[in-house]
Amino acid sequence: TRKVILDVDTGTDDAVAIMLAALHPDLDLTAVTTVNGNVPLSATTANTLRVLDAIGRPDIPVHPGLAHPIARRGFPGQTHFERDSDRDMHGSALPLPAPVTAARDESAVEFLLHTLRDATERVTLVPVGPLSNIATVLAADPGVREAVDEIVIMGGAHAYGNVTPSAEFNIWADPEAAAMVLSAGFPRLTLVPLDATHQALVTRPDCAKLAGLGTAAGRAAADLITRRIDAYSAGHGVHAPDSAPVHDAVCVAYLVRPEVITTRPVRVEVETSGALTVGRTVMDVRPNATGEPNASVAFGARAEVLTELLLETFSGPAAR
Ligand code: BDR
Ligand code: CA
Repeated sequence: TRKVILDVDTGTDDAVAIMLAALHPDLDLTAVTTVNGNVPLSATTANTLRVLDAIGRPDIPVHPGLAHPIARRGFPGQTHFERDSDRDMHGSALPLPAPVTAARDESAVEFLLHTLRDATERVTLVPVGPLSNIATVLAADPGVREAVDEIVIMGGAHAYGNVTPSAEFNIWADPEAAAMVLSAGFPRLTLVPLDATHQALVTRPDCAKLAGLGTAAGRAAADLITRRIDAYSAGHGVHAPDSAPVHDAVCVAYLVRPEVITTRPVRVEVETSGALTVGRTVMDVRPNATGEPNASVAFGARAEVLTELLLETFSGPAAR
């Protein structure tokens, strides 16, 4: 099995990603670190604990990380473009029972530093929120990147953003952190931007099938994704009606079904200034691109692969 650490700002799609990583037999979710993002750190942490309790995995440690971006007093200025993107569908508490398990006392940064420094087996790191924790760890010890066999990031956008026309929320929320992570020299970096996740849409009939599995994970996934579909159908979405992307789950699906996305090597840099473009991932997709690629970027994704994997993984005995 592949050792995986998820870094999350739980939210509804982070929750599906956590369940997929925790329940898939080929993955060993050794820990989850939390960060400020969709909702404040206290809420992303409590939501993460709710999810792990709901699927009977309170043994997976949760380490709270940064409560704010690394270089700003908060998110980039309230641009006249800003809208809630995916955030307002998360609410502060997920539709799951209150957590009974407590987060660990050790911070995400301390946990990641010693875990990666002492790693005997390389770890797959999957950040699906703002990159504040990952950037801080790199600032403390850039060498830890060698303990990461692959970093798979949900973030960025080439065609159009969600929080602004230019920017996708995870990158926009902490652009300096994203710039540091993308230029840190990870041996293998896969970036899953909106261009891909907007193609892997989950529908209401899919949710009915998930609910029909009769498992805690199936029910939770159905509730969480239905909440997303309701929000997108209320005019937030740019997608086919009665469907929604589950961005973060695509990153975990890729670990066990790499064919869920199609990628190409691209040089990606992050705009950290400019009122209209702050947080934009600038991708050199020119035929005569000059920059040295620093990421495998997903431009395509297959909804049927994601949905099939969710149904398969959430129906198993582990899904209770
Ligand atoms: C990203 O932002 C959040 O809304 C989701 O959890 C996802 O990680 C999509 O832009
Ligand atoms: Ca997220």
